[in-house]
Amino acid sequence: ASVVRRLWKGHASAGMLSPRLQRAMKDYMSANKHHVFYNGHRKGSQSAKALLCQMKAEGQLKTVDGLEEPFSSLGWADFVPSRPLELLNKRQQGRSGFKSCAVVTSAGAILHSRLGKEIDAHDAVLRFNAAPTEGYEHDVGNKTTIRIINSQILANPKHEFNTSSIYKNITLVAWDPAPYTVDLQKWYASPDYNLFGPYIDHRKAHPDQPFYILHPSYVWRLWDVIQSNTQENIQPNPPSSGFIGILLMMALCEQVHVYEYIPSMRQSDLCHYHERYYDAACTLGAYHPLLYEKILIQRINTGPQSDLRRKGRATLPGFSTINC
Ligand code: C5P
Repeated sequence: ASVVRRLWKGHASAGMLSPRLQRAMKDYMSANKHHVFYNGHRKGSQSAKALLCQMKAEGQLKTVDGLEEPFSSLGWADFVPSRPLELLNKRQQGRSGFKSCAVVTSAGAILHSRLGKEIDAHDAVLRFNAAPTEGYEHDVGNKTTIRIINSQILANPKHEFNTSSIYKNITLVAWDPAPYTVDLQKWYASPDYNLFGPYIDHRKAHPDQPFYILHPSYVWRLWDVIQSNTQENIQPNPPSSGFIGILLMMALCEQVHVYEYIPSMRQSDLCHYHERYYDAACTLGAYHPLLYEKILIQRINTGPQSDLRRKGRATLPGFSTINC
């Protein structure tokens, strides 16, 4: 709980994690599975505005567009949606984009929050991976505009990606970690989980459903933002889906409300609201640099502390509203 209280105040460090989580972190550091080699700068404590401007500059959306090898030779330019993800919020010409957006994390702490109505009142709602709404509407709402899915969702049959209704009639955004050098040939030959085959199959079966794969350079530039603003060495693994989703919505919306990312007073070790599985790593991170991500989001939160405590709600400005 003390890590959480410090998160509310905008400070935390790996030294506050339990010995088990610290050990897990160290193991991921020495494994360095994605061959991360950071040679960028480390910024001192820059202002919230400067941090936002860095996020805006580094967080320009980029998806696999089929114009680079090996995807170009494989004909991917014809498979990916013709309308870029950046224009998702601009439905018709002349219509402005999403004004208000909600990012709903899957944290167990959202149970009993009764935030469902508030969440559904946003223009667009982002959810993650296999998180359901059915049976949890009162706490998480039932509107879904975009779902971010990691490659395990596509690769593992247990998630029933092709049949489950939670992946239908919405925009899908998938991601998978490439090597840090963003070698697309290597990535295509050995993704973390094979998402490429299922992606093409799904595009052919549902050509009208907007479905994108984030470019691995987008994912690693977000990681760079976290490392460059952190004095400690962070885990050499991609940011969590949560961080990716928050920055994605900052690129698409004028204002973003993030729910139960910075834990509320309901904080618990319950990993997901829809599963009876308890592990503090889900909230504070082991594989992902989650604690450091949360410190950054806390630094750019413009909402009151009472929103954090009561609703686990952070309020963030969209990139289009900040002048850098
Ligand atoms: O577990 P999963 O990645 O599907 O959850 C979606 C996102 O919600 C995570 O990537 C993480 O950013 C956030 N989350 C959290 N605390 C939890 C569970 C999830 O902050 N207990």
